[in-house]
Amino acid sequence: MPTDLPFTSPWLLAPMEGVTDPCFRDVVLERLDPRDLGGAYTEFVRVSHTPIPEWKLAEHLGPRKYGQPVGLQVMGSDAGPLAATVDAAIYAGAPLVDVNFGCPSKGAFHDCAGSALLDHPERIEALVRACVTAAGGRVPVTAKMRSGVREDSRLEEVAQAAEAGGAVMITVHCRTREEGYRDCADWSRVARAVAAVRVPVCGNGSVETHADLELIRRETGCKYAMVGRAALGDPWIFSGRSVTVAEAARFLLDYAEALLTRRKFSQNGASGRVKRLLSFWKAGRLFDGAGPAATRAEKGRRLAEPKPERLWAWLEERAATASAGDCEAGRPSAILHA
Ligand SMILES: Cc1cc2nc3c(=O)[nH]c(=O)nc-3n(C[C@H](O)[C@H](O)[C@H](O)COP(=O)(O)O)c2cc1C
Repeated sequence: MPTDLPFTSPWLLAPMEGVTDPCFRDVVLERLDPRDLGGAYTEFVRVSHTPIPEWKLAEHLGPRKYGQPVGLQVMGSDAGPLAATVDAAIYAGAPLVDVNFGCPSKGAFHDCAGSALLDHPERIEALVRACVTAAGGRVPVTAKMRSGVREDSRLEEVAQAAEAGGAVMITVHCRTREEGYRDCADWSRVARAVAAVRVPVCGNGSVETHADLELIRRETGCKYAMVGRAALGDPWIFSGRSVTVAEAARFLLDYAEALLTRRKFSQNGASGRVKRLLSFWKAGRLFDGAGPAATRAEKGRRLAEPKPERLWAWLEERAATASAGDCEAGRPSAILHA
């Protein structure tokens, strides 16, 4: 049945604006077995008064190269353009569509999209229904919500509204809009959603280690778990594998190369994106110094590096410090020095 969820494992990469574009997703997907990482989503595609054209959606999706499905996420408050965008997304090749009810940004809030809709469950139901009708059974439609605007008392109502609209999975980010990204993740909110709806729930919020993936399922009864920022610090969180410093550096070099060649970023633009990732980075003990203070200082130095070529050179040097048997070691990235 086409509305069955196509994920290859229960662990999913969260949509993250400014990060999870096709360049980032592909360097992650090529490294992870579909049994470990089950799927991903695009960054949100904002839909205002006019539908987003198919070519633009195809850019967000990128060519499908790996086994895992990548869902296209839409965000908007106007059912007509949203539904037309869902139809275009399916023509662009989206294997599933997600509707965003979590974005906390002021812009989205003033347009009454994203998390602003959490105070209006009836509008959530109508918007999801419009997307499901547009999908017409060709692909599944999922919804992603925060736990509320200022507090969580309407969480069940919102999850039920998304279900009533026809969402076949509901991702619950267990923070309210007001809680932003604060370190206050309350997984009991995921459990409340699980108890409130019949469709599978995907738990999200402060899944920080590989062990947390199972823990959130065990503690809440959710069927899927979604990782955001921890996957920016360690994309291998889904497999639990500890990578070498060379693998970590090679990941970042491949990401930079993809930004430069596929998206035609400037050197400064690519280094900005890589530094953004570095600010979260934990995998492979990339910054390892003699003790935590030295490690922090090394990270600070790299984040403050103004010259892209010096950042690439440092990463190349780290990529060459591979353990024996790492055949990727020393592979030069010609484009970075072009
Ligand atoms: C940089 C960044 C961009 C994000 N962009 C999106 C987005 O486009 N769509 C969305 O639904 N959530 C977005 N989120 C929220 C994440 O998908 C996720 O719900 C949130 O980070 C909580 O998960 P975590 O604690 O594992 O990071 C974003 C989060 C971050 C940090």
